[in-house]
Amino acid sequence: MSSDIYQPPEDIVSRTLTTKDQYDALYAQSVNDPEGFWKEQAKRIDWMKEPTKIKNTTFEYPDVSIKWFEDGELNVSVNCIDRHLKDRADETAIIWEGDEPDTDEHITYAQLHRRVCRFANVLKELGVKKGDRVTIYLPMIPEAAYAMLACTRIGAVHSVVFGGFSPEALAGRINDCDSAVVITADEGRRGGKTVPLKANVDEALKHAHGVEKVLVVENTGNDIKMKGGRDVWWHEAANGIDEFCKPERMNAEDPLFILYTSGSTGTPKGVLHTTGGYLVYASLTHEVTFDYRQGDIYWCTADVGWVTGHSYILYGPLANGATTLMFEGVPNYPDASRFWQVCDKHKVNIFYTAPTAIRALMGAGDKYVEGADLSSLRILGTVGEPINPEAWEWYNKHVGRGKCAIVDTWWQTETGGFMITPLPGATPTKPGSATKPFYGVQPEILDQEGKVQTETETEGVLCIKDSWPGQMRTVYGDHKRFVSTYFETYKGYYFSGDGCRRDKDGYYWITGRVDDVLNVSGHRMGTAEIESALVAHDKVSEAAVVGYPHDVKGQGVYCYVTLMTGEEPSDELKKELRNWVRKEIGPIASPDLIQFAPGLPKTRSGKIMRRILRKVAENDFGSLGDTSTLADPSVVDDLIENRENR
Ligand code: WTA
Repeated sequence: MSSDIYQPPEDIVSRTLTTKDQYDALYAQSVNDPEGFWKEQAKRIDWMKEPTKIKNTTFEYPDVSIKWFEDGELNVSVNCIDRHLKDRADETAIIWEGDEPDTDEHITYAQLHRRVCRFANVLKELGVKKGDRVTIYLPMIPEAAYAMLACTRIGAVHSVVFGGFSPEALAGRINDCDSAVVITADEGRRGGKTVPLKANVDEALKHAHGVEKVLVVENTGNDIKMKGGRDVWWHEAANGIDEFCKPERMNAEDPLFILYTSGSTGTPKGVLHTTGGYLVYASLTHEVTFDYRQGDIYWCTADVGWVTGHSYILYGPLANGATTLMFEGVPNYPDASRFWQVCDKHKVNIFYTAPTAIRALMGAGDKYVEGADLSSLRILGTVGEPINPEAWEWYNKHVGRGKCAIVDTWWQTETGGFMITPLPGATPTKPGSATKPFYGVQPEILDQEGKVQTETETEGVLCIKDSWPGQMRTVYGDHKRFVSTYFETYKGYYFSGDGCRRDKDGYYWITGRVDDVLNVSGHRMGTAEIESALVAHDKVSEAAVVGYPHDVKGQGVYCYVTLMTGEEPSDELKKELRNWVRKEIGPIASPDLIQFAPGLPKTRSGKIMRRILRKVAENDFGSLGDTSTLADPSVVDDLIENRENR
């Protein structure tokens, strides 16, 4: 834990939207009078019918129910586009920067309006209606934004699946929410390589039989197969289509989107967000946390396949009428200076990325960042995992040149928007701490037994005491799972799954997941998902997966694999298993280390003692703890002896 404190830079304080006094006053109001606070904040949105009921929420187990602005009516695309047309039709809504450095495009709000309307009309032609689920499997091209906004225009519920997921993973997500329409592209581009998106969809649809139409955007132009009657080219369908589409009136609590995320058990959960509360929260957090001013060029490097892309590439910024940059490529293509070149090229003022990218670029050497000007930058953000103080310091010194404010934003797919974060002009920062709660957020630290820790300086699991508008409403199709995952263990609280420490100044330090969820390069993954992929291989009898500290990725994936009788361990087989997992889930889940283990440490009742596996993977043998309850304690010696070295 770093003890350094950085005061907000003077330039930032002198023109900030939120001073420390304002933050303190508004925070107090937000928790003492949530109704009054959020009634006022809801005015930032254009409502077709203003809400009179503001908050109607309970975390009481098992009757958890969350409703915000429940009699309000609105349309998200109107808020993100139409309402800006009066004053800013010709200003840039989206700057698209392609994978190759010489490709980019500026899309004005007027153009965005026409393109989203056309997209919406095409979806209608394909039979999509209000409430229908549409799966989007697209690369980072402007059409991804059009497709998402088009869904909101007509009240369809989008489920964006990250383009790096495998056909198997895609099929599972299509089936879970019964999508009849999938939107994809011929291929994607990343780091000079192509990604066979349409071919992946074809493969997925062998296991997803409810899909009637596949809408295909031409991107690379390379040859792909089109299936008659099912597959439709976007440019053909859009030919002659009307450029205006009347927006659907949506209730504040109508579903807006589903986004699948990993939990500690079972298949990924369909996190459901609704319309009104989510939009109010995404836009408020975007403005306040990034100290956003009209005219700023804002860049979030995430993919729209993750929640960060939903809230902070698309909905938050566009609801605020911002210019948001969308980047198709990767940080190290053509070389490790790409991010900084893009910042200079487009004069980026606010830059938001992940610690894993910062560490990778830091590792590549300072020469890549030193050649850049970067004087346009004012605010730097991070998200996805705890940032180690060295990476924070490097970001501050080499990218921020000591003049930028750094916001380390803690939040989750489930929370819809920022929960614990500094505000640029208000909060002194400490490298590695997400600092203080956002308006309306009441963090509590509980011990394992569920007792609230009342001292300021303490450590335990991080829970939230009361609802906030951006909170997920349910797990799609499985409300029981929603209640049991987040509200059963610690009654009366939302349980985040993260461990946390609070220091003497009341600053929060996230210490990582306390459940069986890994955070690999900022991507969330359930160990159960990787285990079930491994045991699906016919040579594997059992598998247990844990995380271990990894210099660049934050956590690496360590797999213990027991083979079927008669199968021989070999490097060849390791490679085969690695490829297998990539095929089953996607490259992001690729095992870093595989150890063949003749036995796993189990209790007499057959439960795998993961604590021991974690310690071995961490090379921490001194503190294995009590192993006497193991059915066969000798397996531990074998595990240690044959551990994989990194
Ligand atoms: C982790 C991403 C420390 C955390 C928005 C959380 C963080 C999980 C931070 C959610 C941060 C996210 N500091 N840890 N600033 N931000 N996390 O759903 O473990 O992909 O529970 O949402 O990422 O990941 P998710």
